[in-house]
Amino acid sequence: MSHLIAPSILSADFANIQRDVEMINNSEADWFHVDVMDGVFVPNISFGFPVIKAVKKHAKKPLDVHLMIVDPDKYLSDFKNAGADNLTVHVEACTHLHRTIQAIKGLGMKAGVAINPHTSVSVLQDIIMDIDLICIMSVNPGFGGQKFIENTYNKVTSLKEMINTQKSSAKIEVDGGVDLNNAAKLIHAGADVLVAGNTVFSSKNPVATIKDLKKI
Ligand code: DX5
Ligand code: ZN
Repeated sequence: MSHLIAPSILSADFANIQRDVEMINNSEADWFHVDVMDGVFVPNISFGFPVIKAVKKHAKKPLDVHLMIVDPDKYLSDFKNAGADNLTVHVEACTHLHRTIQAIKGLGMKAGVAINPHTSVSVLQDIIMDIDLICIMSVNPGFGGQKFIENTYNKVTSLKEMINTQKSSAKIEVDGGVDLNNAAKLIHAGADVLVAGNTVFSSKNPVATIKDLKKI
């Protein structure tokens, strides 16, 4: 299977959100990546349910919702109702990660786990068979347009080994600083999904940039 591209709407123009959603609909992108930030888990606040619902109304592709919030358990069903197809929580924000994963799946969503740059992939050893997606953060979460952290390649390689050893079907997603220079190396290391915010939305031709990321 070829890799998936998930443009991050964090870098979209919120005054023209329908236009940007249609751009993604009409591109080769596979998912909408939706970054939710609470100003506590990360030093930034993005948007919440009304914006996600507005995007869902026009989106013709799955919503891949990335929660950068503390205590995500409180809101799982709200994210389902807002239109999330994939729901990703941070390992650093979940005391009872296994329970949270079961709850996400019980609500009918795909379950993802994100890990910060300082968190080793080894923490996933005992949860890898239960999850659909692992989001490896290749920047410290909180902002779009940051510089890619090079150690990410090693993490993707180790995680791919773990997935193959355990015969897990989880996909590896890389999030942060992905561009046309590092995308190929990430795919070769084992990434299945590339998130791209700044690279897509700062492009003069976002549809062509998505196509370029897709054809790698
Ligand atoms: C960072 C977010 C990312 C971000 C990626 O906290 O999780 O999804 O939008 O943006 P770029 O591709 O601009 O680094
Ligand atoms: Zn994200």
